[in-house]
Amino acid sequence: MAETITIIDDRTGKKVTVPLRDGVFPSSALRELDPDLRMYDPAFLSTAACESSITYIDGEAGILRYRGYPIEQLAEKSTYLEVAYLLLNGELPTSSELEKWNYDVIHHTMIHENMRKRFVDGFHYDAHPMGMFVSAVAALGTFYPESKDIFNPGSLEKQILRLIAKVPTLAAMCYRFSSGLPFVSPNNSMSYPENFLNMMFRLGDDHTVDPRLTKAMDLLFMLHADHEQNCGTTAMRVVASSHADPYSAMSAASSALYGPLHGGANEAAINMLTEIGSIDNVEAFVKSVKAGHGKLQGFGHRVYKNYDPRAAIIKKAAYDVFDVTGKNPLLDIALKLEDVALSDDYFISRKLYPNVDFYSGLIYQALGFPIEMFTVLFAIPRTVGWLSHFSELLKDDAQKISRPRQWYTGVDKRDYLAINKRQ
Ligand code: CMC
Repeated sequence: MAETITIIDDRTGKKVTVPLRDGVFPSSALRELDPDLRMYDPAFLSTAACESSITYIDGEAGILRYRGYPIEQLAEKSTYLEVAYLLLNGELPTSSELEKWNYDVIHHTMIHENMRKRFVDGFHYDAHPMGMFVSAVAALGTFYPESKDIFNPGSLEKQILRLIAKVPTLAAMCYRFSSGLPFVSPNNSMSYPENFLNMMFRLGDDHTVDPRLTKAMDLLFMLHADHEQNCGTTAMRVVASSHADPYSAMSAASSALYGPLHGGANEAAINMLTEIGSIDNVEAFVKSVKAGHGKLQGFGHRVYKNYDPRAAIIKKAAYDVFDVTGKNPLLDIALKLEDVALSDDYFISRKLYPNVDFYSGLIYQALGFPIEMFTVLFAIPRTVGWLSHFSELLKDDAQKISRPRQWYTGVDKRDYLAINKRQ
């Protein structure tokens, strides 16, 4: 029998019965009862703002799937670019499709010379790479006026390809600028993650990238590719709903990611571990968090109320990286912190577990990335998630321009007071 839900307006006795599908009912039920009814839902805790078939999360069970495929299987068997194809197209590519996709991405990695000379070079010497990235993504769109033509499938496809291909180049450009290093051009003979590491760290002709580190970079890209309706993706969708071009929408999504409660948490987690300084200080630190002095960075999640499956994969991968780079000295502090927190009732009762950002920073640091680059490393792979949602939204007839309502609690009408009469 189909499930339904009945909502009764106790003021009038009027009731409306609507279908309940997967625990979701249409808010049109409220409008039917009374067009002026509003549901107060700050931070959208109970609101499904769209239908989506891209990413599935069961936060209680710690499950994450891209287009139905468990993240653990993809992490073990796939590559970032294959996952990108999957997220965008809904299916894994055949070998010829994958070959073409890889070729196309690798052959769109160049960035217009003016982007570096006139735009990136204009930043202050100590500009934060993520601040540069956010604005550089928007600026990149100005090189492609046709990007505004978002309902032209050929044009949109081209912008998606460009963005996925060019964000590593842009990110490396921002880093090289802030380090005072000469820009390294993309190399078409390298894989996506290898090319990125090369553009980041190349110092001389004999520079090589260890394939185990390339693999770890690719894995981290895969794990960050999408995460359904988080803050950044919601920003992407809200901006896309006004039919802005994908570069502008992505700049907004990157800005949302920049915050310390979102993609900035990996940076905050390393700063926290550095501040703790030694495993002897862990218990006192946890005590101070419980007393209300700050948060455990990289802990807790709006959706996961169990171990974040990405954190579990990253924790394991960290050891493979440390085999090459040597152990990150902060690892022991992180392990002890996790141990202490997960046996403490404060964290258990609130279902606070390590999230993706708790261990990723340790790997980034071991790979040689400065802390300021961490959120940029999140933004590069999330590009494909954002663009998948951008495309999905444009095809969704139920969507209109995003325009939530408010609950006005300000003062009632009053008359303008001349300045000499004000207190
Ligand atoms: N350390 C200590 N206490 C915490 C933490 C934490 N990291 N996270 C939540 N709490 C407490 C919070 O104080 C509250 O306690 P009480 O009920 O006594 O008021 C309770 O747990 C519920 O927290 P909340 O703030 O209502 O949860 P939320 O869903 O609004 O926030 C979060 C989720 C991720 C913003 C939050 O857990 C947090 O700030 N974590 C630290 C930052 C972080 O690691 N962010 C990365 C998220 S994963 C990557 C991403 O999506 O970008």
